[in-house]
Amino acid sequence: MNDSFQISLKNVSKSFEDLDVPVLNNLSFEINASERVAILGSSGSGKSTLLHIIAGLDDPSKGNVFFNNDLITKLSDNNKSILRNKHIGFVYQSHHLLKDFSAIENVMMPLIIRRNDSLKDFNQAKKILKKLGLGSRLNHFPHQLSGGERQRVAIARAIVTSPDIILADEPTGNLDHKNANIVFESFLELTEEFKTAIVLVTHDQSLARKMNKIYHLSSGKLKSK
Ligand SMILES: Nc1ncnc2c1ncn2[C@@H]1O[C@H](COP(=O)(O)OP(=O)(O)OP(=O)(O)O)[C@@H](O)[C@H]1O
Ligand SMILES: [Mg+2]
Repeated sequence: MNDSFQISLKNVSKSFEDLDVPVLNNLSFEINASERVAILGSSGSGKSTLLHIIAGLDDPSKGNVFFNNDLITKLSDNNKSILRNKHIGFVYQSHHLLKDFSAIENVMMPLIIRRNDSLKDFNQAKKILKKLGLGSRLNHFPHQLSGGERQRVAIARAIVTSPDIILADEPTGNLDHKNANIVFESFLELTEEFKTAIVLVTHDQSLARKMNKIYHLSSGKLKSK
């Protein structure tokens, strides 16, 4: 964890060619070390687009995104990937697991990219999968897992590097309410250990209330709730 960590968006707009109105409209946002923020908003309001821009996975049409004092938007794709691998965990709305790799191999992947020690990587990935209730699914492939189990593997993959921040797009969207709560509590315990900042996109008000701040995204703007 890095105490001085901050991501800030300054006057960010995002338009897509086929849409008349911008999805994000002159929006500013800031998140600091250990902060936990929820983003609510109706379907199509731009929540995933916003998360992708915060992570440097997509570029804004206008405005700037800073990681500490670095302008993310100016980095090469390769340097953006390095920054993400070191500092950011991302849980995609659709899990994006690699289909030819087992659960534990998917979770180890970000560590392998860093060329760590493979036995350490294995043990770290196993510890997190166990904590998320997947101790008996380590060697299953994505097609052998349920939707909720795949989401838990995707959560484990985002946490395994102990990043400064996790951006999570409906991380428990495929789980029933009871299991969503159980998985989310384990997720929070793991992030507490590393003082990880969180931006959580969710439709679940009870999960949103576990964060320090709640924003609502509508008409391209973030409003505090
Ligand atoms: N690559 C793209 N090209 C064109 N339009 C896009 C693209 N990505 C997103 N959009 C549009 O931008 C708007 C916001 O999409 P986004 O996926 O950010 O919404 P969301 O709030 O995450 O919705 P949901 O809750 O359904 O996941 C939608 O109207 C969508 O169709
Ligand atoms: Mg979305």
